[in-house]
Amino acid sequence: MHLPAPRGPLSDRVVTALRRDSDPFRGRALDLGAYLPASDGLRDEDFQLALWVLYELHYRGFDGVDDRAEWDPELLRGRAELETVLERDLRAATADLLATVGDEDGDVVEQIRQLIDAADGPDVPRFVQREATRDQFVDLMVQRSIYTLKESDPSSFVLPRVDGSVKVALAELQYDEYGGGRPERLHAALFAKAMEACGLESEYGFYIDHATAPTLALNNTASFLCLHRRLRGAALGHLAAFEATSTLPCRKIASGIQRLGLGEAVWDYFDEHVEADAVHEEVALRSICAAAVAAEPALRSDVLFGAAACLVIDAVVAEDMLTRWRPEPLEAAAAMSHQVSA
Ligand SMILES: [Fe+2]
Ligand SMILES: [Fe+2]
Repeated sequence: MHLPAPRGPLSDRVVTALRRDSDPFRGRALDLGAYLPASDGLRDEDFQLALWVLYELHYRGFDGVDDRAEWDPELLRGRAELETVLERDLRAATADLLATVGDEDGDVVEQIRQLIDAADGPDVPRFVQREATRDQFVDLMVQRSIYTLKESDPSSFVLPRVDGSVKVALAELQYDEYGGGRPERLHAALFAKAMEACGLESEYGFYIDHATAPTLALNNTASFLCLHRRLRGAALGHLAAFEATSTLPCRKIASGIQRLGLGEAVWDYFDEHVEADAVHEEVALRSICAAAVAAEPALRSDVLFGAAACLVIDAVVAEDMLTRWRPEPLEAAAAMSHQVSA
């Protein structure tokens, strides 16, 4: 994959460091401290892109960048600085939602469902079902491609961090995401086919320069939770909320695809998830999250944090998308009143 174009001082420092070196273990500090966002890093594209590039070293890497950069101590130090900010902002953004459920005893499955019910955000799938244009749907595919072309890969980092029935259930879910033994049914491969059917490039990371801050934040949140063993409970909660909010949205998007006449290959990816995620929802909630909390009760608050993080980021992504697709009514009204007074 190509290195993305920097979008500010943080991503510039990271991209420049990766570009210039033949020896990644050069011991030069990134010095990111002066540029870290004071608040709301979830909507800061420079911050999110810098972190995304550092995480990507753990997935497919970049053309022309030494693979050893993955474990460069200075890059890891820089990543840790960025992660402190991401965690601060995720904790702040999820506080209100988490306050709607107690985190003491009770059924953790019910508590995750309560979070899902309490979460707020615009309904992008409904918009796709009823009124999105072809261009808007293509934008949805481009934004989703950043995650979906490596669908479920972050969760694979969690497998060695759990044991017993939780590991078995997570492996079962991943096996399904990875095509159930059939490479052509890898969910990432189904999405690639859907992209091609829309006239898009399906190469991994091809559209990174088009990814919005919320899209990058969604990807970074999954990587952050799944790459830290201390947050394994949050990674499982995140997975459960993700699976449990997929079936109905995928059904609506599949119906939007039919309305737009986009064809079988586009529809196939979303249709696959109507059935699959109904099963994954139960596996993730009961066999993974409830079993993990039963084995390690101290994980409960992390499980709920991870679920809330997934829901909050989803809402930020949805809000950003609909704002870009549909100008604010207030702006539209202001523009009209300008025309009237002119
Ligand atoms: Fe999937
Ligand atoms: Fe799934």
